[in-house]
Amino acid sequence: MDAVYQRCINPACAATCGVDATSFVCPQCGGLLDVAYDWDRLPPPKSLREFEAKWADRANPLSFSGVWRFRELLPFAEPEHILTIGEGQTILQRADGVAGYVGMNAGCLFLQYEGMNPSGSFKDNGMTAAFTHARMVGARRAACASTGNTSASLAVFCSASGLMRAIVFIGSGKISYGKLAQALDHGALTVQIAGDFDDAMQRVQQVAQRLGIYLVNSVNPFRLEGQKTIMYRVLEALRWEPPDWVVVPGGNLGNVSAFGKAFIELADLGLLKRLPRLAVINAAGANTLYQLYEKLGLRWNGGSPEGSISEGYYHQMDAERLRAATIASAIEINRPVNLPKALRALERCGGVVREVTDQEILDAKAKVGAGGLGCEPASAASVAGARKLRREGVIAPTDRTVCILTGHQLKDPTATVAYHSADQKTFDEVLGSRGVKRASFANRAVQVANDLDEIMKAIEVYA
Ligand code: F0G
Repeated sequence: MDAVYQRCINPACAATCGVDATSFVCPQCGGLLDVAYDWDRLPPPKSLREFEAKWADRANPLSFSGVWRFRELLPFAEPEHILTIGEGQTILQRADGVAGYVGMNAGCLFLQYEGMNPSGSFKDNGMTAAFTHARMVGARRAACASTGNTSASLAVFCSASGLMRAIVFIGSGKISYGKLAQALDHGALTVQIAGDFDDAMQRVQQVAQRLGIYLVNSVNPFRLEGQKTIMYRVLEALRWEPPDWVVVPGGNLGNVSAFGKAFIELADLGLLKRLPRLAVINAAGANTLYQLYEKLGLRWNGGSPEGSISEGYYHQMDAERLRAATIASAIEINRPVNLPKALRALERCGGVVREVTDQEILDAKAKVGAGGLGCEPASAASVAGARKLRREGVIAPTDRTVCILTGHQLKDPTATVAYHSADQKTFDEVLGSRGVKRASFANRAVQVANDLDEIMKAIEVYA
């Protein structure tokens, strides 16, 4: 067998296929695949500190990239195949102001700001890995369904590299303007489906299979290899001392799956002494994982999650015509494709799942903004979720907690401006319709006549 291959995540099946396969479903049981490594033939570093030496080699694009400087932990490609656009230059910021809001002690809350990526979201971590694999297999066209960030990332990578033509499937009227603007400006063929993300996801899988188009959604296990590095950077920023908690918004559940794989592999390799706990935060209007995990008790169960629980849940969802609905459009998803992998991660990492309302999301977002980093609504779900877990006593005020800010504030200016707007009509249209009642932390613009004295008076009054 090769040192790198793809393997079914179900231990009872464990069917394998070659690293070059692009169907991204188990050839035997149709389940999800992992990228698997024979570590004896691909020696990983002896200590995580070895990665610090890469900082001295930043003229080399593979050491500059925040993904590929950890390439010994995702060794599926030869260096000449690696396609990088400088992704992963992101920071872990200690956020004492936000800690106060969440109810944590100073010095205990950190924000991992993935909005700093070239396309403005964490997706670039995965996209560079998917593009590297696409280059290995000679793909010419790539497609995804998206709530906006995967499509933006795909479009950026296609336009920056010229490697493939981008085809993006989006739900009609379902993505924010910042993200739609990116797909259009970077030249992606943008297919607006009369439906939502869950519809688009089903269609893109059918189309990719029929037309032989390379699929870059997170069912592609190579994407998740890249997203593991978000956790390596968190560990590095904490001097390799694992945090107590990692809190992440949940949509299609690629991130939580990747984070779990990263930690499990490090632990199995003897490089990590303790696994952080994982908390996944759903929007209340798109809360499938919360319902299945916390209410119906669905578990990984050694690789055989009770299928009837999720089937029954989806059946009921269809019967009631329940559709995902939240201001956090990035996570407006009811059928997460990585559900089994997420369950596996939750099991090994002592996971919990919570749901937060749009009101809680927007208030948390305003606090994140006031604390110095700008994020989009979905990202703020992590902070709102940490606050909830803190209030429940699940997270202690002294627990070192990392919230992942998955996407940049400018992705969705509509939600931000409506929250801070003094105009009730704008507020009602964008937010009131979603059950948001008040903007407790609004920073309203001051209206003033075009008159020097009036302007100065206003400044003296307000600042
Ligand atoms: N946060 C942001 C900003 C996202 O764009 C997404 C997913 C998530 C969180 C959820 O991450 O799927 O790994 O659980 N966006 C996808 C997209 C679905 O199409 O851009 P997940």
